[in-house]
Amino acid sequence: MLHLGTLVNLLASAPFVSGEELASRLGVTRTAIWKQVGILRELGYQITAHPRRGYHLVARPDKLYPWEVGRDLHTELIGKTIEYYEELPSTNRRAKELLGSATEGTLILAETQQQGRGRLGRSWFSPPGTGIWLSLILYPSFPPAELAKLNLLAAVALSRAVLATLAFRPLVKWPNDLYYQGRKLSGILTEVGGELGRLEYVILGAGINVNQKKSDFPEELRTKAGSLRMIKGRPVNRRLLLCSFLECFEEEYFYALGQGFDRCLAYCREHTATLGRPVEVDNGQKVYRGQAVAIAEDGALIVEDGGERFRVITGDVQLLAGPDLA
Ligand code: BTN
Repeated sequence: MLHLGTLVNLLASAPFVSGEELASRLGVTRTAIWKQVGILRELGYQITAHPRRGYHLVARPDKLYPWEVGRDLHTELIGKTIEYYEELPSTNRRAKELLGSATEGTLILAETQQQGRGRLGRSWFSPPGTGIWLSLILYPSFPPAELAKLNLLAAVALSRAVLATLAFRPLVKWPNDLYYQGRKLSGILTEVGGELGRLEYVILGAGINVNQKKSDFPEELRTKAGSLRMIKGRPVNRRLLLCSFLECFEEEYFYALGQGFDRCLAYCREHTATLGRPVEVDNGQKVYRGQAVAIAEDGALIVEDGGERFRVITGDVQLLAGPDLA
């Protein structure tokens, strides 16, 4: 079976490429090429055919096909294997099915999710083609106690990727959301398995709001959620952002495996949407209010209320007031 990505690369290698040349380069018949070009057109590629000059690639679709992601991805591990779907119930759910057989760093992508999962049992709005809905499969050699920091690490990587590709820096809201001007741009849901002090696997799911317009969000999210397009005032290239995120994630992950999380924690403390703010914390059992004062060495959030300090290890944090919430 001919690899579609190879055909796209050949088509992109010159303004015009004849069917004959493609056939000989790929060791197939001209009819096979013609059929594959038809498939590419169905996938959204604009390809014209000229009687004497051959095929001409006019435009690529805004899709996260593995070969499109692969052409600008410079990583050793993260995203080297990609499973791509037009739609899935949930990429995290698919990742769970692949555990064991999938190698570390395997990336699952879907253009849309019908049952996207959020933290604390919530659902995640995942419309087609406008966001990046992904899951990464990891088998880290961290003890489970490091999980809070791994959550932060993913948010740090995404904040750095946005800075690198779009020239502004979203802030990290504990435990792992990214915020900008009071709106949530992305959320991360990690699901783990393991026993007796050993993390067996981590499924790191990230939802990134890229190209939604304000009116695309359901009414109940319209005042809270934002997208990168809303900030930049123009559509954003999902593919390049995704590549940058995977590269930043790999860099942070390898660094943490070798040298620990200090650098990642320092980033979270410096570029924070949480610290210094009055917050309401819901840890699933109790809701309490206080001032977010620190992120501890183990990644826990320290909240102070009337001189008393609490450690928050898991839970949801709501920002109660602040300069960009007005
Ligand atoms: C949150 O509640 O803030 C976390 C949202 C995580 C959503 C992502 S989208 C891709 C992956 N698959 C899912 O079902 N959820 C995560």
